[in-house]
Amino acid sequence: MAIERIVSGMMPTRNLNSDDYDLVLKSWTELQHEYECLFFVADWHALTTHYDEPEIIEENILGMVTDWLAAGVDPSQATIFIQSKVPEHAELHTLLSMITPLTWLEKFTDYKDKHEKLSSKDLSTYGFLGYPLLQSADILIYKATQVPGGKNMAPHIEFTREVARRFNHLYGKEKGYEAKAEEAIKKLGSKKGHLYRELKDSYQEGGKDQPLEAAQSLIEEQQSLSLGDKERLLGFLEGGGKIILPEPEFYLTKSIDSVDNTLDRNSLDYKQKKQQYLDNPDLIRSVISDGCEKARKIAKDTMRDIREVMGINF
Ligand code: TRP
Repeated sequence: MAIERIVSGMMPTRNLNSDDYDLVLKSWTELQHEYECLFFVADWHALTTHYDEPEIIEENILGMVTDWLAAGVDPSQATIFIQSKVPEHAELHTLLSMITPLTWLEKFTDYKDKHEKLSSKDLSTYGFLGYPLLQSADILIYKATQVPGGKNMAPHIEFTREVARRFNHLYGKEKGYEAKAEEAIKKLGSKKGHLYRELKDSYQEGGKDQPLEAAQSLIEEQQSLSLGDKERLLGFLEGGGKIILPEPEFYLTKSIDSVDNTLDRNSLDYKQKKQQYLDNPDLIRSVISDGCEKARKIAKDTMRDIREVMGINF
């Protein structure tokens, strides 16, 4: 199986005392046991609406991460970092902006809603319109397989999938692609190569997921195959080229009414954990700096591939 990776972010403008905040944190503490998780403070996102109050952002970051740790987000299981400390997110955002149709951004209804709600602010800005694309960059740069969120996150993930699809369509077709895929099939050996072809034909004729999944696990199990060949064969299954940016799935977080045991923020144990972190801000800083380093390593790898296919590789 390929790794299952969760990416989720939170803006440092979020109300730390809301029920919804507890729910998100609760879901994070559960997810971290089951998946590779990357959780980050979305400070650039906060600027899309709070560009005129930068002090709020600065003040909230440490407090927010302290809260995450106190709630049980465990830095030995999840990678915790700050968005702006991984500048590759911004680079990917810029590159994706070249291929994203304006109409895809303009159709977001929460764009209009927020615009109305925050009517005291001038949100006729480029950054605010581009918010969903920055979010897509946050997700795609880590090749996340799942993104948790509430109902209103669903259209954003659908948009992210469309952006990824468009990207793969434009840049996933390397020269001589079919011949290379055929070469890679030979490397599977005759028995597995035959099975791969059978599953591929059966998927392409019938459109059912079962042969697709069987073929995907067949490829993923091949330890001797290079990463490039694996991607080629995975892409070939679906008739396209290489999948450079995989499409993430949306993972619906339980809603407030369906959960009764939200984090008990007043329990003694809680409080003690939080105090321990409050007494030791250096510990939190070191958690953040380790997390940024880990996240950046993955982001850099993705950007290397992206620059290459987009011709930014001088
Ligand atoms: N939009 C999210 C919020 O409202 C924050 C966020 C930014 C995010 N980038 C993301 C969430 C990527 C999930 C994945 O808090």
